[in-house]
Amino acid sequence: MAPHTEQLTRPAVRLKALTRSFDGRTVLDGVDLEIPAGQFVALLGHSGSGKSTLLRAVAGLDHEVEGSGELIAPERVSVVFQDSRLLPWTRVLDNVLLGTDGKEAAAKGRAALAEVGLAGRERSWPGELSGGEAQRAALARSLVREPELLLADEPFGALDALTRIRMHGLLRELWERHRPSVLLVTHDVNEAIVLADRVLVLEKGRIGLDLTIDRPHPRSSGDPRLGEYRERLLAALGVTEDLK
Ligand SMILES: Nc1ncnc2c1ncn2[C@@H]1O[C@H](COP(=O)(O)OP(=O)(O)OP(=O)(O)O)[C@@H](O)[C@H]1O
Ligand SMILES: [Mg+2]
Repeated sequence: MAPHTEQLTRPAVRLKALTRSFDGRTVLDGVDLEIPAGQFVALLGHSGSGKSTLLRAVAGLDHEVEGSGELIAPERVSVVFQDSRLLPWTRVLDNVLLGTDGKEAAAKGRAALAEVGLAGRERSWPGELSGGEAQRAALARSLVREPELLLADEPFGALDALTRIRMHGLLRELWERHRPSVLLVTHDVNEAIVLADRVLVLEKGRIGLDLTIDRPHPRSSGDPRLGEYRERLLAALGVTEDLK
């Protein structure tokens, strides 16, 4: 089986019985999952439940998972991590363009930087950016590849609360404009219900809960009608009243 070679329209992602073990310890235990093209999905789960392992498999970064089940993902996939992973010795625009080519690449890079609010910072060094700006540059770098699937592993985890809220708005806006499928790993239930239209909980190596969040956007975490979703997700995560 060769993941990422099959050109497909929908579903964008299909996993069937995907399994991954490390040293005889099973982390993913037959995961079944389909993500339709253009859907915004969040993935929750305890620390160590296998969220990053699942994301790495979908990204095609884990060669050992091949053959463990069915794994189909689009060809153009971008990944954003908790830290921006910008190369410190390369200017912001060149970081965004890294690995891309073509005549219009520079123009697209500038446009992507403008989209994330970094117009004018093309020639800055990564070390001159704030944490939030660096994550914006990382988003621009993923956008420039025009991904069919955007994978994000706790991309806002290291940001302060206010910057995080701004980044939520930005990510949702970018999604509305470009409509990639999104798989956003987070441990923040509020982030998941504010941003995603479907929230999954990874539990004992499988998708234990698959919840559609049927509320219009933009959402606010204070919306009482999101409360019911929050309760269900917290219960699935085993967070009881006294731990909240
Ligand atoms: N390369 C590896 N070698 C050995 N064990 C690994 C490796 N990668 C992950 N694991 C183990 O697999 C389990 C799941 O790890 P993973 O990083 O996917 O968790 P996670 O859900 O992303 O957790 P967190 O919320 O803390 O980021 C952990 O117990 C981890 O130790
Ligand atoms: Mg992780």
